[in-house]
Formats: sequence, structure tokens, C-alpha cells
Amino acid sequence: LRCPEKRARMENDMIIFDEKEKIFKIDTENTSYVMGVIDEKYLVHIYYGKKLTGTHLAYLLDMDKEELSEIHINYGEKSSFLDRLPMEYPTSGMGDFRQSCIEVAEDIGKYGVELYYESYEIIDGKPELEGLPSTFGDDVQTLCINLKDDILKLEVELRYSVFAGNDAVMRSAVISNYGDKPLYLDKVLSACVELGYGQNEYITLHGSWARERRIDRQRVGFGYHSVESSRGISSHQEHPFMAVVSEGATQETGDVYAMNFVYSGNFVSFIEKSQFGSQRFAMGINPRGFCWKLGAGEKFAAPEVVMVYSDSGLDKMTSTFHDLYREHLIRKSWVYSKRPVLINNWEGTYFDFDEKKIFDIAKEASKHGIEMLVMDDGWFGKRNDDRTSLGDWFVNEEKLKGGLKKLVDNVNSLGMKFGIWFEPEMISPESELYKKHPDWAVHIEGREPGQVRNQLVLDLSRREVIEYVYESVASILRQANIEYVKWDMNRPFTDIGSSELDADRQGEIMHRHTLAVYELQGRLLKEFPYLLLENCSSGGARFDPGMLYFSPQIWCSDDTDAIERLAIQESTALMYPLSVIGAHVSDCPNHTVGRVTPFKTRGIIAMAGTFGYELDVTKIPEEDRDMIASQVETYKKYCPLIQSGDYYRIASYQNNHYFDCYEIVSKDKKEAIFVFVQVIAQPNMHSIRVKLKGLDNEAKYKINGTVYDADALMNGGFIIKRPWGDFQAELFHIEKIND
Ligand code: DGJ
Repeated sequence: LRCPEKRARMENDMIIFDEKEKIFKIDTENTSYVMGVIDEKYLVHIYYGKKLTGTHLAYLLDMDKEELSEIHINYGEKSSFLDRLPMEYPTSGMGDFRQSCIEVAEDIGKYGVELYYESYEIIDGKPELEGLPSTFGDDVQTLCINLKDDILKLEVELRYSVFAGNDAVMRSAVISNYGDKPLYLDKVLSACVELGYGQNEYITLHGSWARERRIDRQRVGFGYHSVESSRGISSHQEHPFMAVVSEGATQETGDVYAMNFVYSGNFVSFIEKSQFGSQRFAMGINPRGFCWKLGAGEKFAAPEVVMVYSDSGLDKMTSTFHDLYREHLIRKSWVYSKRPVLINNWEGTYFDFDEKKIFDIAKEASKHGIEMLVMDDGWFGKRNDDRTSLGDWFVNEEKLKGGLKKLVDNVNSLGMKFGIWFEPEMISPESELYKKHPDWAVHIEGREPGQVRNQLVLDLSRREVIEYVYESVASILRQANIEYVKWDMNRPFTDIGSSELDADRQGEIMHRHTLAVYELQGRLLKEFPYLLLENCSSGGARFDPGMLYFSPQIWCSDDTDAIERLAIQESTALMYPLSVIGAHVSDCPNHTVGRVTPFKTRGIIAMAGTFGYELDVTKIPEEDRDMIASQVETYKKYCPLIQSGDYYRIASYQNNHYFDCYEIVSKDKKEAIFVFVQVIAQPNMHSIRVKLKGLDNEAKYKINGTVYDADALMNGGFIIKRPWGDFQAELFHIEKIND
């Protein structure tokens, strides 16, 4: 966790400390973030927004200093001052009554933290956060600011990193106990920013199983407004994302301040409007149920928050997140490489399959250009439904006669890759493993633990359990040529207790679980570096940047209905690139909503993601099957553009109720595709003009053989003749004309 050596200031530094003004200034391509030290003690926020040219900025603190004189007259009146200061890392118990970032108890249970500025260093590079996923790459600078509470012997190192060419600021905090007694961290958030006094709205993503990440927008009123998860996963219900936007901000206009958490467990994000109208915006591990014992000399790393400012609406925020995640979070070996078009048997067969069925699906799929067969849940133990066998990771040879290797070899002989499903973090009470190790399940001594989907969570705070899980998965992967793993996680935590941990460490269980999942996935990728890992959690309940660090694609939702997917994929793409959004064509009537949509529409909508199929290809109507080859070909043709292009939202049927439209433009602006979906047909309505975005303003582009000026397409629009009927989709290719 140590920072590298201090180095001299360079001309192209993105981070500076201005000696005269006594301010820290972090510049990205288009933004500036400024902090200062007040009264030689308190680190305070000065400015975040559009890039500023100079450093004459300390005067912005004058209004906050008004109360300072009071302090010097009567030092005891600290709260009049602390409760108003725009603190960079607010503490609790000393007079700032707003929400804090850190709460610490001494071993005898006394609270109260006051952090004073101590020192700083600016370094080339970005120190890792031990045990945690975080952004990485070259051309990065980091500012480390140390704050201390010398009564508690507690040090907080705030970290701010910026990559050249990107507008995001990466934040985290590393807490150290430099005393000789343990401290109890009851709350450690990762980032906080004071947003001043304007009228704002905040955008969050709420949801449920099969209804993930719906956009919610509300006015920031006085008081505390938050989203959180206490389920042990980032969850279906709320998302570790919040954007605070100026009133009325649109895709193209207005201020946007956004945070997204590189973490997969419990989180909280809040905006709090104080009595004076200032707004405190923060994110970190959810303090609910959290307590970390920090022994003498130990450190605790709070996970990374990605913070983005856009002065021109949500589109720019989206492109900053997409570029950052593609360039600095997803494994390089996968980020732009072609993903195999897969077929997954889950919706096709559920648990009812054998080796012949799997092979038949693969054989038929291979004829239509599908490149990988993924065998989902049900291949191990005695698992013929969801009531048994999690934890018993040995092949069910009654089902897969001849064993796994034979099946994999047979699928490979068709020219197809083979992938497999696991749910490694779980244990079924009806399993061999539970018979042997009932105490390996998370539970509270003396209470019957509550089941969800007939299963319990394994206690990954125990080293032996982590090792068992690793060997279970790895030994299957060693048996055969398996090139893909779908890592599922199908229940939230309840009955949180571990029979191994000491009483004063029980509050560590859920964070330890998340760290263990990271460790396991990291180890797996070391032993099997070629592996394509797809995370999943009852659909998209753990779709977050923490998981993206390990798996370049994540199953987005168990709802595969094309129309439902429009909404889910729109909000997921607010910050995650299309190349990570698992999206499959499934059979109709759709298994979740019963809707019947054209096969063509299902194909086009699934192409805004990592394209695949989720059906029994031997059973679907022949006319649908006949479309597969050309869908696969279209996807492969546009895959590089979909993976690396700039994504723009043009219209959302969530708002207009009738049609949806989005566009992907290549970075060099030489080509683009856009998709128009008529969700509900309207009678007696004319054609629609859709205004394209992101093209080279001076250029001409060809669409369906006709040439148009880019500025006409972007300002006047492209005319779409309304199709006949509901659920109709069309994909258009746009090509720049060389003149
Ligand atoms: C939940 C996943 O989201 C599904 O895709 C499927 O893998 C099932 N679990 C299997 O139990």
C-alpha cells in the first residue's frame, strides 16, 4: 500500500500543489478539482467542475473562513465552523453534524475523529489497493494527502489518481493505525465532494430481479438521500452509481457529477443538502453491519470510487466512463478482442438435459455459425432442480455419460469452444458438503439460517473454505478444454455470522467475502489465463466495476425479453461499455414476461452487448433458426465498432413510450451504426426524424445508398418511416464518404 518515491514537479503534471495559494489542483482533459488547507488544519474542498486555467483560487474559501475568527476567540465553538466547512473527508463526533466519511471507536468504545492535514506527495503511477480491484495503466499521476488524528493514532491517506486523456478522477482512502491499541472502523467511505449551492437533481438506478437498473431521477431536497446495498452484493435493488445533475440536465446539456464504485459488496452513496444549502455527495462501503478491527500497525484500504464531471450532460459522462473502463479496468487481453458468439442451454433446457441434449444443441448451433456452447446449471452432484448439490462440484455421470472430458472433446470436434457454469460461493443444505461441514455456511450460532433458493452462503472468511472452493473449480477446469466460466451468485446474505471469527470481527464478514471472491477470481485467471470469465448474479445483481476487473462481460439480466432489455441495457450503458453487457436472443413467448417479439428484433437488440443465444436451437421455429447465421455474421462484422465506439442515446422509449434509438460511432468517425426500435405502433402518425450524434460535422455519410451531409443528419435528422406493427427494429449502417 505504500506510495512510490516523491519526485520533482514536471511541466506536464496533471496534479500540482501551488505553494503561494496553498492549494492542490488536479487537472484532467476538461475538468479541475481543487482543495486547500484551512486554518493550517482542515483539508477542504474548493472547486470541482470545468477546467480552470490558473491557480488563483484560495479566495473561494473566504466565505467559509467567515466563522474562523470565532474559533480563535473561543476555540470551544468549533461546531459553528465545522458544521459548515466543505470538508474533503468529513469526520464525526466533533461538530460536523452532517454525514461523515469515517467513524472510529477505540477499544473502550469512545467515538470521535478529527483529522488534521499532515503532508502530501505527488507521484507518477498509481499504487494498488491491496486485495481490491482498481483501475490501472500508464500515464497516470496520483496525489496522496495524509491526514492524522494524533489522539486516536489514526492516519488517513486520501488518494486521487488521473490518467492522461481521460476526465475521471479515481479516489480511495487508506486508513492506518499507528498506535499500539486496536481501533474499530465503523464507517470508512472512499470519496466525498461538496457540490455547493445550486439546485440539483440526482439520478440513481433501482430495480429488482429481472428488472435491473431502471433510471430514477429526483430533486435534491434538504436532508439525506441515499441508495445502498446491505445484501452482500451490489444488488438488483440499487446500484453503486449516483449522478448529481443540475436541474433539467439532458443527454447533451447541464452539469453532471457522477460516482461509480469499483466494488461488489455492500455500498452506500448519498447526497445531503445541509441547513445552508450546500450539498455533500459521497460513496463507500455501507457502514450498516460493517465494523473492521484495525490492529496496531495495520492498514485498511477503502475501495476505489470513479468520479466523473461533465459540463455537457449525460452523453459526455457516459463516454468518460466507457473509455476509462475499456482502457484502464478490463483485462487488456479481452477488452477489444472478439468474444465468441455463444449459446447457453439455460432457457432451452433448464435442469432437464444430458450429454446428448447438450451435444445436439451444440451440433445444430455450429451449423449456424455459433462459436461456443455454455453448459449452465445442473451438470454436477445430484442437481436436477435447485434444491440440491451446490458445493458438490463433481460431474454427474448419470447425466453426462462418459464424463465431462468426452463431452467437451465432442463439442470441440464441431469447431466450438466449451463453457461451463458454477456457483462457487454457495452450499445447498442438501449436499455432501453440508453433511460434512455444516459450519461452513454463514450462520448465527443457535439460529436456523434462512434459505434463499434453497441455499446458504459459504463462509469465505475461513481460509479452508476459500481453498476448497478454489480447488473445486480449478479441478474441473483442469479436466477438460474449458475456455469460459459463468460464475453465478444467487442469493443475498442473511444470518450473518461465522463460527471462526472472534466476536469483535463479525462485522468484517461481508467485506471479507467480497475480498475472497476477488482473490478466487484473480487466482483462477492466473492459473487459466486464457479463460473468458462471465460474472452473473441471478441475472445482473452483481454488475459493477469490481467484477468487470476480472470478467470482461457480465450477464446483464435474467430478463431476455427484447423490449424489457431496451430499458435495462439503456441504463447499464450509462456507464458500462456495450462490450461488457451480456445479451442473448431467447425463445418466445419470452419466459419472463410472455411477450412475443420478432426474431429479427431480438437479434438486433442483443447486438448492443456480448451477443449470444439462450434457447434450444433444435426446437425453435425453422424460420427463426434460418436467421441465426446472418445475425451472427452481422454481429461479427460490427463487433469491433460495438466494442470500441462511442455510444450515444438518441431517444428512450422509457420517456416517449413509443420508440427507442441509440447509435455507436467509431472513434475515427468513419462509420457508425444506429438502431431504431418501434416499441408500440401509433395510428395516423408520420415518419420520425432522428437526429444523429457524434459524426464528423464537415463530412458526408452514406446510409442505405444515399449520401447526406453530417451536419444535416445531426441537426435536421434522418427520416425513419414508421414500420407496421409493434416491436419492430431496424439497424442502419453509416459510412463516411471519402472525397
Ligand atoms: C441465475 C442466472 O442468472 C441464470 O442465467 C442461470 O444461470 C441460473 N442462475 C442457473 O441456476
